[in-house]
Amino acid sequence: MSQRVLVTGASRGIGRAIARLLKEKGYAVLGTSRDPGRIADRIEGVEYFALDLRSPASIAALIQKAGPVDILINNAGESQVWPAADTPLSKLRGLYEADFFGPIDLVQGLLPGMIARGSGLIINVGSMTGKFAVPFQSGYSSSKSALAGYTWSLRNEIRAFGVDAVMLEPGHIRTGIRPDVFAAAGSRFTPQFETVARRRAALVGGGSEPSVVARKALKIIKSGRRRPFYAAGGKAPLMVFARRLLTNRAVERLIRKMYGL
Ligand SMILES: NC(=O)c1ccc[n+]([C@@H]2O[C@H](COP(=O)([O-])OP(=O)(O)OC[C@H]3O[C@@H](n4cnc5c(N)ncnc54)[C@H](OP(=O)(O)O)[C@@H]3O)[C@@H](O)[C@H]2O)c1
Repeated sequence: MSQRVLVTGASRGIGRAIARLLKEKGYAVLGTSRDPGRIADRIEGVEYFALDLRSPASIAALIQKAGPVDILINNAGESQVWPAADTPLSKLRGLYEADFFGPIDLVQGLLPGMIARGSGLIINVGSMTGKFAVPFQSGYSSSKSALAGYTWSLRNEIRAFGVDAVMLEPGHIRTGIRPDVFAAAGSRFTPQFETVARRRAALVGGGSEPSVVARKALKIIKSGRRRPFYAAGGKAPLMVFARRLLTNRAVERLIRKMYGL
C-alpha cells in the first residue's frame, strides 16, 4: 500500500511542488490550504483538506479527517518583514501560531499514530534565515530557529519508537510568498528597512525553483539514515558549508552585504 503523506500548504509554492512530485512517485498525498475550494490548479489524485495553522480547531478537525499519516511535511508558513523594535507582539504571536505552534500541534496530533505503528517521518520546513538571522526578519528568523530547536530535540525523543524528524531548510526559492511588510511612517528604521525589503524581494525573485526543495524532500523520504538538517535551493548548501569555516562576525558581514546594509 502507498505511504500516506500529509503536505501542509499544498495550494502553491514549495508545498505544491512537493505534493506534485510525491504524487508522481506513487505516494498517497493529502494536501492542505486554508480554502481548498479556491485552489485553481489542483493536482490530480491529491486529496485536499482545509487547514488554518492559526486555528487549533482547524488543526484538530484535520487530524480527525486525515486518518493515518505516515509522513508529515509541515511546509505551510507565513513570513514578516518588520523592524524588530516596532513589531507589535500581537503580530509576532500571530506569526508564531502559523510558523511554530500550529506545526507543533500537528506533530503532537499525528505522532501517537506513528508511534503505535512503529514508523513515521516528520519533515519540518524551516529556512536558512533560521540559521542566518536576517535583519528586519526577526520574527520569521526566530520562529524558524525555534522550530529547528524543537525538531532536533524531538528527533532524539522519538527515534527509539521508529519515528524520525528532520528539518528541511530552503534558501531563496522563487515562489509567490508575500511577507507581511510594514514600517511605520517616519520610522528611524525606514531607509535600512526599505533596502532590506527590496533586496529580500529580489533574492526570492532570483531564487531556485520550488522543485529543488521537492526533490530534496523525496531524497529525505527515501534515505535510510537521515541527518537532522537538510539545506535546499538558493545558496543554502554553500552557506551551510561556509558557516563551518567562518566566524560569527564574518557571517554577519556576509549577511549585511547580502541585504545591502
Ligand atoms: N520561498 C522562499 O524563499 C522560502 C525560503 C525558505 C523557507 N521557506 C518556507 O517554505 C514554506 C513554503 O513557502 P512558499 O515560499 O512556498 O510560500 P507560499 O508560496 O506563500 O505558500 C505558502 C503555503 O502555506 C499556506 N499557508 C499560509 N498561511 C497559512 C496558515 N496560516 N495556515 C495554513 N496554511 C497556510 C498557503 O496556503 P493557502 O493560502 O492556500 O491557505 C500556501 O499553500 C514556508 O514554511 C516558508 O517559510 C520559503
